[in-house]
Amino acid sequence: MINIPVSLGARSYRILVGPGLLAGVGAELSRIGVGSRVAVLSDEPVLALHGRPVVEGLEAAGFAVTTMRLPEGEAAKTLATAEQAWDALLAAGLDRTSTVVAVGGGAVGDLAGFVAATYMRGVSFVQVPTTLLAQVDASIGGKTAIDHPRAKNLIGAFHQPRLVAVDPAVLLTLPEREFRSGLAEVIKHGIVLDAPYFADLEASLPALLARDLPTLTRIVAGSCRIKASVVERDEHETELRAVLNYGHTIGHALEAVTGFERWTHGEAVALGIAAAARLAERLGIGGSDATARQTRLLQAAGLPVRGSGAAPAAVVEALARDKKARDGRVPFVLAPRIGAFQLVFDVPQEAVLATLDELA
Ligand SMILES: NC(=O)c1ccc[n+]([C@@H]2O[C@H](COP(=O)([O-])OP(=O)(O)OC[C@H]3O[C@@H](n4cnc5c(N)ncnc54)[C@H](O)[C@@H]3O)[C@@H](O)[C@H]2O)c1
Ligand SMILES: [Zn+2]
Repeated sequence: MINIPVSLGARSYRILVGPGLLAGVGAELSRIGVGSRVAVLSDEPVLALHGRPVVEGLEAAGFAVTTMRLPEGEAAKTLATAEQAWDALLAAGLDRTSTVVAVGGGAVGDLAGFVAATYMRGVSFVQVPTTLLAQVDASIGGKTAIDHPRAKNLIGAFHQPRLVAVDPAVLLTLPEREFRSGLAEVIKHGIVLDAPYFADLEASLPALLARDLPTLTRIVAGSCRIKASVVERDEHETELRAVLNYGHTIGHALEAVTGFERWTHGEAVALGIAAAARLAERLGIGGSDATARQTRLLQAAGLPVRGSGAAPAAVVEALARDKKARDGRVPFVLAPRIGAFQLVFDVPQEAVLATLDELA
């Protein structure tokens, strides 16, 4: 088993990565020393596929387990669901020493984390991520949220987990499109933060796409390590953590303009990365070989890199509404080369428009 420490002073925790870890969550949790009551928050498909080893392991470790089924996907991230979860926790007698365990994708993790952050002013929280995106991204860093009718992730809190238990074997049941979408975040980590990791991805892509378990384990752990190191240096997302937004500025705008229907998040991020690479080139920050490597790897992973399906003018307009915009301008994360990044605050709108035209 791979052990990745996340050092955040009193809020430090470990990310454990290993095939078969689902059954060991109970034993790992008892090592942390929490109260005997646990609520497992998950959704129906994930419970059917992967719930049993987690619940049985928790019970074998002496925990009294309540299971709550959340709506699937983004539908879980509402105040109404949070309220139902608070009710369920109360009914099951969870107290301040109890633990909320999220078993599922990023949506389950975000809702369960929000519930754990707020129930009795905060109880222990464990992430058992089951999608690739959740394993390498959403489960690490303590960002929890529900959606507001006017914008996603608008209501939330920072609440670090006590443990993140990553079992790469669960990815074997993930639908192909979900899996490839998660690869966009994995590739992103390599581009802006770790050149050797990026090279490993280039070399291992066929094995990764075939979901060879040792390859999956190594790559997932590598990405967890990268995200953890960013979170350690910038827990509350002030400066450095913005690097993780690479490809997301234009990606988010594309998602918004296409009504969150045409592309998965990862596909929009892939298009956003392709755009960011071209934009860097246009601004004289990045070279054409870096652009070529980025687009080649994304494409080989089955992700889109051209034909955004959105009008460039509409995308630029959506950019101004970005949550990270200050006075209507969004900072862009750009990659001067593979393994490096630069925050650029004054990107001319014409350069963005021209890049989007090129992409279309
Ligand atoms: N907190 C953060 O830092 C952070 C970061 C990135 C994304 N997010 C959030 O994550 C959410 C997206 O997460 P997601 O991409 O994991 O999707 P998801 O959680 O919306 O949905 C995952 C879907 O896949 C199914 N599923 C999950 N694991 C499976 C498995 N192993 N086998 C088969 N099916 C499985 C689920 O039943 C569900 O239908 C968004 O709400 C986003 O805002 C949060
Ligand atoms: Zn993302």
